[in-house]
Amino acid sequence: MKVAVFSSKPYDRRYLLAANEGAHELVFFEMRLSLETAALAKDCEGVCSFVNDDLNADVVAELSRQGVRFIALRSAGFNHVDLRAAASAGIAVARVPAYSPHAVAEHTVALILTLNRKLHRAYNRVREGNFALDGLLGFDLNGKTIGIVGTGKIGEIVARILHGFGCTLLAFDPNENPTCRELGVRYVELDTLLGESDVITLQCPLTPRTHHLIDRAAIGRMKPGVMLINTSRGAVVDTSALIAGLKSGTIGSVGLDVYTEEADLFFEDLSQTFIQDDVFARLLTFPNVLITGHQAFFTHEALTAIARTTLANISAFERDGAPVHSVPMPGGS
Ligand code: NAI
Repeated sequence: MKVAVFSSKPYDRRYLLAANEGAHELVFFEMRLSLETAALAKDCEGVCSFVNDDLNADVVAELSRQGVRFIALRSAGFNHVDLRAAASAGIAVARVPAYSPHAVAEHTVALILTLNRKLHRAYNRVREGNFALDGLLGFDLNGKTIGIVGTGKIGEIVARILHGFGCTLLAFDPNENPTCRELGVRYVELDTLLGESDVITLQCPLTPRTHHLIDRAAIGRMKPGVMLINTSRGAVVDTSALIAGLKSGTIGSVGLDVYTEEADLFFEDLSQTFIQDDVFARLLTFPNVLITGHQAFFTHEALTAIARTTLANISAFERDGAPVHSVPMPGGS
């Protein structure tokens, strides 16, 4: 099958070509998929896309006009796809449901440890010959209460790692995870989690229910000095409320791997330009904010699994007319 691969960096090409073994004709485009670039999929039966590609109704309609019948997402999340538009255009959508939950969970814990012990600041200080400790004071994670919002594949591993640190674990999830329960995770209402946690980490998908789950009201219920980590999707947090929380001191520190408007920033080298997003620029001014550019997934194991599952989805669609991991279409099918 001929497949247009959008948002493909050199590392994507390397892993996808290795998994493909010449089975499909992969046409790589570094640019993101959007209404302006959708025509590049001309003559391609399939499109392969990543998290910041735009798959709104207009883009899906344009892809359909170009003859596309299949969209292979290289991500677990599918909040950026208009599934109704895809269903009515007869385009099947597949995803990679789990590639390495360990990668994201371990990055989450890396953000917690770095922020707590201020390693991002210590690194720079020591390089400049400044060995003073003022401002680097952290706390023992042992005995602290961690609130995990969403205990699916990633949340469960975060729970297992932090259980090893001797933390008390709270969780909020409409679907309780038996493994987490066995670990001693206590499922509570969101308000209880917000009020009792020293560290809150978001591991839920972006859905209409989780959009701005962390808003001004939610931040108002948090313990003063709380650490907030978001490695899920940017829009789960209302960024202006987050900035207000940081300014008032309610929020003690923030670790983000995702940001609502990240599509205009992340995955690109913008070091020779000015950041046009003033809200993001404001976030960067806080010494107690640590941002990584959507790299939680970025391990050798995850890229290998993403490439293999994506190619398996493409092969299955070509062979059977249905991918291995279909995204459930609205309305059931
Ligand atoms: P999963 O589907 O295994 O688990 C998600 C959990 O969230 C489920 O247990 C679900 O019941 C729960 N949930 C749903 N709605 C909720 C709500 N309103 N409140 C609390 N919990 C809710 O997904 P997985 O693999 O653990 O991934 C979670 C999210 O992490 C993905 O949807 C994606 O957005 C994000 N992600 C981020 C990556 C990164 O590189 N930063 C990479 C991969 C995933």
